[in-house]
Amino acid sequence: MTIKEALEEISKLSSPKEATILLSHILNCDTIYLILNEKKELKKLKKLDEILIKLKQNTPIEYITNKVSFYSQEFFIGEGALIPRPETEILIDEVLKVAKNFETPRIAEIGIGSGIISIILALNLPTAHCLATDISFEAIKIAKINMKKFEVENRIKIFHSSYLDGVAEDFDIIVSNPPYVANNFKLEKKLSHEPQNALFGGEIGDEILKNIIDLSYERKTKYLICEMGYDQKEKIENYLKNRDYEKLDFYKDLAGIDRGFILKL
Ligand SMILES: C[S@@+](CC[C@H](N)C(=O)[O-])C[C@H]1O[C@@H](n2cnc3c(N)ncnc32)[C@H](O)[C@@H]1O
Repeated sequence: MTIKEALEEISKLSSPKEATILLSHILNCDTIYLILNEKKELKKLKKLDEILIKLKQNTPIEYITNKVSFYSQEFFIGEGALIPRPETEILIDEVLKVAKNFETPRIAEIGIGSGIISIILALNLPTAHCLATDISFEAIKIAKINMKKFEVENRIKIFHSSYLDGVAEDFDIIVSNPPYVANNFKLEKKLSHEPQNALFGGEIGDEILKNIIDLSYERKTKYLICEMGYDQKEKIENYLKNRDYEKLDFYKDLAGIDRGFILKL
């Protein structure tokens, strides 16, 4: 089989772009090499067969290559953590804007997953104190791999814990991209490979978000910044209706869809 034929074979189960990424991953070469050596014969590749099986099982390519691009960086990813979504870059930008109000911002992230949010914050805010939790041991393992890769192991305290249980410190900012999909929502096949406790937020979907709002009040946090589902703006507004706060702003993603909020308590 030639490189060109292998690319065609993979493309049948994905896209030409993904086929190029996957074959360069198998051959450990760059994509230019594939273009320049289209006619090169490949030996029977066990790895190619394995990848074709994974694609038939609808495995996202990020879980096959163990790599994901996010915020112009390459992170390690595995099936134990949610694949970072591009819209979460906006959540990070919102935190960075707010963090400017503090000399040494104390930031807690609930649900660190692969580590993308806390790591980008630590890299961009050299004076920040960062702490993060997750209920998933597997996710924490992946976050730690990324923290080491970006040399921020000593900048982020990480706890295997629910919400901020067992954490006594106070924070200026709580940030979270929590699970916010309703439990009975029928996911597309590809999403079934992602950890379900990273996606489902309860019967309605907004339960974890509401718990995080309550927690921010209990902890007298100054700002809460969260990603949310496209249809949760009204639910959050209603939940905060009779509460005291200074300001509530919502932001949209690049498709113009409501995607998160910044609550100044
Ligand atoms: C949507 S994922 C976000 C992961 C990562 N922060 C990102 O943006 O890609 C939600 C994460 O929250 C974690 N999680 C769910 N419930 C939690 C809880 N009660 N306390 C802490 N983490 C929780 C999940 O294990 C998962 O890693």
